[in-house]
Amino acid sequence: MLQILAATSNKHKVEEFRAAFAPLLSRMEILTADDIHGYPEIRETGTSFEENADIKAREASAYADMPAFADDSGLEVAVLNGAPGIFSARYAGDHAGDAERIQKLLAEMKGKTNRRARFVCVIALAYRGTSVKTFRGEVNGTIIDEPRGTHGFGYDPVFVPDGYDKTFGELGPEVKDKISHRAKALEKIVAFIKEELDSMDDFEFE
Ligand code: IMP
Repeated sequence: MLQILAATSNKHKVEEFRAAFAPLLSRMEILTADDIHGYPEIRETGTSFEENADIKAREASAYADMPAFADDSGLEVAVLNGAPGIFSARYAGDHAGDAERIQKLLAEMKGKTNRRARFVCVIALAYRGTSVKTFRGEVNGTIIDEPRGTHGFGYDPVFVPDGYDKTFGELGPEVKDKISHRAKALEKIVAFIKEELDSMDDFEFE
């Protein structure tokens, strides 16, 4: 059976990945960074979501000697010229938490009338240390003035997706997991891998 490595040990992400790949799990197995002995710390030195996801996927596939995928995601705010972008996780410093990142974002946006923003997720697939493909998902919305809701993580409590009047923090996983940037990128990679499985007896990216 095909083994593919999800290059993360973030339990929240692993759950989402497993759920998205559920229809294929009779034909493939997902391992995570925790299953790979001595899994290395991989530094995100790229300048875009694509580059960072690709770096993580290539290094993981080379180290574990199996196909690997990795994601990189973040929030882009129009009036901040795309910030925090690829620096979303470190926006308020390395040791800050979600609440501090949200406070910094709201402070930067104070008095700004343009509240447009989007979440971006890029998933990269690699094999033998070489890029295979990247898959991008986006969800557009607006940033509100004060956090609302307790679901999710990161900037969810201040992000209202287009077509809704509640934040991701209020909407919860039933809605978020259908319309989010990560859900859309996952849909694309799952379709790609399904095609590969369908068209090959022996799964190989060569
Ligand atoms: P990374 O993809 O693990 O590098 O982290 C990206 C950062 O972007 C997270 O730490 C969050 O701050 C933010 N982010 C990415 N996706 C989401 C989301 O679905 N909701 C809220 N914040 C997110």
